[in-house]
Amino acid sequence: MKSSVKLTVNGLEQEHQAEPRTSLLTFLREQCGLTGSKRGCEEGECGGCSVLLDGELVTSCLIFAVEAQGAQLVTVEGLGTPHHLSPLQEAFATDGASQCGFCIPGMLLAATNLLERNPDPNEQDIRKAISGNLCRCTGYDLIVAAISMAAELKKGARG
Ligand code: FES
Ligand code: FES
Repeated sequence: MKSSVKLTVNGLEQEHQAEPRTSLLTFLREQCGLTGSKRGCEEGECGGCSVLLDGELVTSCLIFAVEAQGAQLVTVEGLGTPHHLSPLQEAFATDGASQCGFCIPGMLLAATNLLERNPDPNEQDIRKAISGNLCRCTGYDLIVAAISMAAELKKGARG
C-alpha cells in the first residue's frame, strides 16, 4: 500500500506517494523528476546514486523513500546550475575530470561532503572520500586533482 512521503530536496518541498519498498533513488528519479542521481548497481557498491541526507553521504539505492520522511536532501541538481557552477563543478570541468559523466554526480556529492568536513584535504583524504564511488573512465587522477583544485578555490574565496 502506498503512503505519502514528504521531504525537502535542494530546498524545495516534495510530497509524493511511495510503496513501502520504493527506494529513495527511485523516488528522486521517478517521483521528483531528478535524474541526476544515477542508477548503477543498486547494491550500494558504485556510489552513482549518492546524495546528502541530513548532511550525511548515503547511497540512495539502499534507503527506502519512507525512511527519508521529513529529511533534508541535497542531490547533484542542488549543487549548481549550468550558468552558475559550484567550485567543484567548475574544477571538474576545467580539469577535464569527467569523461562519460555517469559517476560524476556521485563523485560531486562525495567531494562536497568531504570539503564540508575537511576544507583542506590531502590526496589521501580525497582518495578515501571517493573510495565508494566507482569510475570506469578516468583512472581517478583527474578527479582527485579537480577536488584538490576546488579546495584551493574555496580557500581563495574565503580569503
Ligand atoms: S546504484 Fe546505489 S550504489 Fe550503485
Ligand atoms: S567518467 Fe565515466 S564512469 Fe566516471
